[in-house]
Amino acid sequence: MEILDGKIVSAKVLENIKNESSIIIEKAGRPPGLAVVIVGDDPASAIYVRSKERKARKLGFHSEVIESNSSVSDEELTSVIAKLNIDDKIDGILVQLPLPEKFDTWKYLDMIDPEKDVDRFHPVNLGKIMLGRTNIYPCTPSGIVRMLDEYNVDVTGMNCVVLGRSYIVGKPMASMLTNRNATVTICHSRTKNIPEILSRADLIVSAIGIPGFVKADMVKDGSILIDVGINRVDTREAAEEFCTSKEIEKFEKKGYAITGDIHPAAFEKSSFYTPVPGGVGLMTVAMLMDNTFRLFLARTGS
Ligand code: GUN
Repeated sequence: MEILDGKIVSAKVLENIKNESSIIIEKAGRPPGLAVVIVGDDPASAIYVRSKERKARKLGFHSEVIESNSSVSDEELTSVIAKLNIDDKIDGILVQLPLPEKFDTWKYLDMIDPEKDVDRFHPVNLGKIMLGRTNIYPCTPSGIVRMLDEYNVDVTGMNCVVLGRSYIVGKPMASMLTNRNATVTICHSRTKNIPEILSRADLIVSAIGIPGFVKADMVKDGSILIDVGINRVDTREAAEEFCTSKEIEKFEKKGYAITGDIHPAAFEKSSFYTPVPGGVGLMTVAMLMDNTFRLFLARTGS
């Protein structure tokens, strides 16, 4: 079993952006600009947004975070996005999800100028992905494909199983694998007999958010296991069962640890796997920077 190393591949993606961007920024007279809109006080979202801001700044990008508390009105939020749509400093707009429940998420995602839609969740962009008519993709599936490419994994003809049908990961992931000539099955909460479907998979992408859901006896020898889950476990038993030794150490200090959806014993049977942490999560942020840079190139005609 070989690790698909998110640390190494994400560093390479960021290094490439840095190298490519310096001359282009000078010519364009401004850096790529990323705006992140965050509403409410979800602690996980706050951590993700801070990490996006830090990475953008480190690359020399212009970075704005627009924070509102959950009592912000629909008019105010609409006006924030409308202003960003016509702000020349901004190439990429991202609305951090989930929005607090009272907000109609699609209303705001639909409002983002598709050319500034850095997450690629606008219906026009999701449609283009399905049709194979774009080369900019949602960050998480894009990061997964980038890792597979880095390790020369060709999915042509593979039986791929995607666990989860969200527009953030599952649906675009399935389209992208299909466009790369894989045979794809999407499973979700109503799917019958998931273990049997998994047992035939050459490659599994799990994005359901349940620690240890994919167990060793469900996967075949030599399968490729991609773990999108970022789950917090709060008991010692769970940490010891699901987490890496480093995360168990962290549990001792912090009282919680992070793990994915795939049981460590399943990784033992794989040919390639992505660890949590240190796998897909790092790629997601790196691809967000890559998408911002690509949108900047398109908008500046560079
Ligand atoms: N919340 C979890 N993943 C994502 C993502 O990829 N983009 C946004 N905007 N919010 C998220």
